[in-house]
Amino acid sequence: QELQMNLEQIEKGGYDHFMLKEIHEQPRAIRDTYRGRLLRDKAIIKMAGVEDNMKKFLNADRIIIVACGTSWHAGLVAEYIFEEFSRIPVEVEYASEFRYRNPVITEKDVVIAISQSGETADTLAAIKLAKSKGAFVFGVCNVVGSSIARETDAGAYTHAGPEIGVASTKAFTTQITVLTLMALRLARAKGTMSSSDFRLHIQELELIPQKVEQLLKVDEHVKDIAKQYLLSTNCLYLGRGYNFPVALEGALKLKEISYIHAEGYPAAEMKHGPIALIDDRMPVIVIATSKGHYEKVVSNIQEIKSRKGKIIAIVTKGDTAVKEIADHVIEIPESEEAFSPLLTTIPLQLLSYHIAVMRNCNVDQPRNLAKSVTVE
Ligand code: AGP
Repeated sequence: QELQMNLEQIEKGGYDHFMLKEIHEQPRAIRDTYRGRLLRDKAIIKMAGVEDNMKKFLNADRIIIVACGTSWHAGLVAEYIFEEFSRIPVEVEYASEFRYRNPVITEKDVVIAISQSGETADTLAAIKLAKSKGAFVFGVCNVVGSSIARETDAGAYTHAGPEIGVASTKAFTTQITVLTLMALRLARAKGTMSSSDFRLHIQELELIPQKVEQLLKVDEHVKDIAKQYLLSTNCLYLGRGYNFPVALEGALKLKEISYIHAEGYPAAEMKHGPIALIDDRMPVIVIATSKGHYEKVVSNIQEIKSRKGKIIAIVTKGDTAVKEIADHVIEIPESEEAFSPLLTTIPLQLLSYHIAVMRNCNVDQPRNLAKSVTVE
């Protein structure tokens, strides 16, 4: 028993839970994921799976992304990035819906399947369906030699290392890293991004791991906030643009490890119904980065404030306006807006982790959940 305990402690690298260890591994995981692919000095991005199939990507009518859960949220971030950088139409589908609705698929479609485990039954089935209709399928997986990695025509691995915690953290940020590299590479190939812009984005992307490292220092501050909200029964997460999917992901993290009901929404959706939920017992987490439709988000925050909602805002370092009205602010380093999800998600991971721990939940193995949903 004692030996088993010690082995676990060694595996957790001294952290109380695998999830916390994996949150803190993200700077290294992101760096490992772009290593050898992002070559700053030469100002190029090289990904074998993309290079070997460049024609497929350049001639594609559209990109269809199929995934589940957190991987689906990474796909939503990718939709915004691909369309902004590479001007290729992107649709993001829940794999479980896509596989049963007899979707229109042609040889001109490129399907990107995202899966940490590479064993998710619905995603695997969606891949098989797409291949049967002649689509080219590209996999983004974290497990070498997994079923999805073998089933897809080509792919790019995330180099997150084994993710033990059921709640996905470093897989999410490394999936976004791979998809961002792909979008930049295709933008260069299609000429939809100037070489100077491309160079700037490469430099920005390379700075992300150290910004995440710096950002992880907010842990104590986030823990203080968690203490004040651990008895909440409901929670809303709001974001716009690139950070709308991060709002969904933040809500999923809280749900799956602390069992508090939470929902993510595009911030502007509040007035279409959800604002009826707001009262002084409803914590609302708002992602209000300085370059992300900031004025609009600030007015959303004011609407919530006037209904006595409690505001926890994720802001860019140096923010003043939101600080005036929010109950709590968590500052993140300034970055290119398209890369901000790699930063804004970090405090949300930590918030759900600390709330779950304080609620004595089983953080690494939440009730009813499996690390990989290999059954339908
Ligand atoms: C995320 O925290 C969950 N563990 C779950 O939603 C997961 O993302 C989903 O089951 C997809 O798993 P996959 O990436 O291994 O396909």
